[in-house]
Amino acid sequence: MRVVIAKDYDKMSIWAAHFVAKKILDFNPTPDHKFVLGCPTGSSPLGMYKELARLNKEGYISFKNVITFNMDEYVGLPESHPESYHSFMWTNFFNHIDIDPKNVHILNGNAPDLLAECDHYEQMIAEAGGIDLFMGGIGPDGHIAFNEPGSSLTSKTRIKTLTTNTIQANCRFFDNDVTKVPKQALTVGVGTVMAAREVIILCNGHLKSRALKKAIEGGVNHMWTVSALQMHEHGNIVCDEDACADLNVSTYQYFTDKQRIENLVDYYLDMFK
Ligand code: GLP
Repeated sequence: MRVVIAKDYDKMSIWAAHFVAKKILDFNPTPDHKFVLGCPTGSSPLGMYKELARLNKEGYISFKNVITFNMDEYVGLPESHPESYHSFMWTNFFNHIDIDPKNVHILNGNAPDLLAECDHYEQMIAEAGGIDLFMGGIGPDGHIAFNEPGSSLTSKTRIKTLTTNTIQANCRFFDNDVTKVPKQALTVGVGTVMAAREVIILCNGHLKSRALKKAIEGGVNHMWTVSALQMHEHGNIVCDEDACADLNVSTYQYFTDKQRIENLVDYYLDMFK
């Protein structure tokens, strides 16, 4: 697993955006050979989306031949609700880039048959040729997408009941009122993320420091579902200094030494000026 430690949230976001942009550029997508990108919501990716939108606006990259699949969506929340992940994605990303709306896929948490919706989603991912790069965040309890602690590490897209921890973490988007947070969500599985050809997870802030420690230094454990990334051939975590608070000094030093020797941070930060 590659771990990149950026100084702060802004640098983490720019690093991640440039990393993603370079992957798309190197792939050289065409109408017959589209790049398939997995997308997260949450506060962590906001800065990355902003920088990707800038790169698009300034002509460095195009999303015309990019297909997206979002990680998750609340069950029972109208798509038009400002906190639905549909609203989030259009407000914070898709409305600012040249993506073709028909290439955007987000789970329908209001589908009449939720199980069929989940199966169909997996089928669409397979038909698109699988996900080239899955981007993600981490919950404070180490979940990826909505794969709460205890989720099977081979799980596929399905319905998940949210933990009290997640409901409390997400109530900041619902007037700090836990009763307004949906109690269930549709989510891609850990296995769905792991099946992507490459994964990049963003992790910032002190609140995530325990999750980061478990992700990097703990064993693979279904109680910290992000730790499955240790088994991925091309897993990347980009974090900020604040998120490193619980890492062992030796772990922190190894990754900072490595990125200095490989010029890993500046290489991407300086890429699109
Ligand atoms: C939610 C989402 C996750 C996201 C997490 C962290 O639970 N389902 O995909 O990673 O929140 O969100 P934030 O980035 O706002 O801390």
